[in-house]
Amino acid sequence: MSKEVNELIKQAAIKAKQETDDEPEPGLTSEIEWPVEVKIGRGLEGAIATTTKIGYVNGAKGWLVYQGYNCFDLAEKSNFEETCYLLLFGKLPTDKELRDFTEKLTEYRHIPEATLDVLQKVVTPETHPMSALATGVSILGNLDSTADDTSVEAETDVSIKLIAQLATLAGAIARIRHGKDPVDPDPELSHAGNFLSLMTGQKPDEVLERIMDVALILHADHGMNASTFTTMVVNSSLSDMYSSVVAGIGSLKGPLHGGANERVLYDLQEIGSADNVESWFKEVRETKRRVMGFGHRVYKAYDPRARILGPIAKLMTDRNPKFKRLYETAIKLEEVVTRELGAEKKIFPNVDFYSGTVYRAMGIEIAMFTPIFAVSRIAGWTARALEYLADNRLFRPRAVYTGPIKAEYVPIDKRS
Ligand code: ACO
Repeated sequence: MSKEVNELIKQAAIKAKQETDDEPEPGLTSEIEWPVEVKIGRGLEGAIATTTKIGYVNGAKGWLVYQGYNCFDLAEKSNFEETCYLLLFGKLPTDKELRDFTEKLTEYRHIPEATLDVLQKVVTPETHPMSALATGVSILGNLDSTADDTSVEAETDVSIKLIAQLATLAGAIARIRHGKDPVDPDPELSHAGNFLSLMTGQKPDEVLERIMDVALILHADHGMNASTFTTMVVNSSLSDMYSSVVAGIGSLKGPLHGGANERVLYDLQEIGSADNVESWFKEVRETKRRVMGFGHRVYKAYDPRARILGPIAKLMTDRNPKFKRLYETAIKLEEVVTRELGAEKKIFPNVDFYSGTVYRAMGIEIAMFTPIFAVSRIAGWTARALEYLADNRLFRPRAVYTGPIKAEYVPIDKRS
């Protein structure tokens, strides 16, 4: 080791000590006077990170609100494009504003060939589509010369690009994983219609397009969830929107967050039929397992998204009777779980309970469930990151240190 460098470090340590000698010696860190009252919520539970006008969830009432508009109104009357505009710009667009926004999405939906080339080289049938999605977004960032402009204006444009392009990427990934070539976006189709056509290579019928549209609206934003917060934290360092969204995708991938809808489907398949629900549930309770797709950290009333997706699951499985048994099993499971846990523990179906049945009956494979979530949630991620960027302050929480503070460094040959 260089003596010269070590001497510099020693001098720096002496100076550091001299300059802070007047400060009182801390005892255990927990005795330090913190600037705020210390109350640790595990997983930051209960911590308030910022204020927002983007969206609101009320767990007791079962409300989900985007910029003041409740999700029932938006799911019934709006479409994903308009909902994205609302989340990004804080108001419903005029006819012209929506046309301009939709044209931008149509233009941006085309992604550079190089992105697809790389995905075709690295994505295999075993690749998790969420990992492939993160890779795709990272490549898009590499290829966008505006990526490092972190002004609100430039990042807003990148956000619109990402809203358009995540669907293109996810559609391409769904095909590449099965050795199929990606297909081009169709300028005549809506965002939801494009997404379905990019996955399947076929123009979707009106009902499928509408159901995908509703699913995208319902998943677009949901408070300070893990992936939204992750995206905001990265963006608050004035990194770039592509890097921020790559991080958000990584967060959403986890089974404690976006991955729960896949688990519901595996459970329903394991149960097999409505007749097996009572015995399956009994065993789950005895082994203290959780029933996937039930309960929610915020909702203590019925999740409004599940209220909409439940009847849509019925509609879809009526249309595609191959999945009728899946729906009958789900309905029975809801009946049993709410009978046993509803009143006492406020456990009701959450958004993930019926979304998987809807997607399966639409012919979508289970591996694509979480990417669908991302194709929608990109709206909330970017809207909230942009809102925060306008009055940015680096996210930097603290932890209460509980380790030793005066450990003496022992050279390796003297350690026992
Ligand atoms: N199945 C059975 N019991 C449950 C369930 C469930 N799904 N959820 C909660 N409970 C019980 C708990 O065992 C606990 O019982 P206890 O009082 O006897 O200990 C009680 O209800 C309260 O549970 P908490 O863990 O305090 O509830 P919390 O609000 O923290 O949990 C969570 C929320 C993590 C979503 C939980 O309900 C769960 O694990 N659900 C299954 C996974 C799932 O569906 N996740 C998707 C959520 S939606 C989304 O992220 C998009």
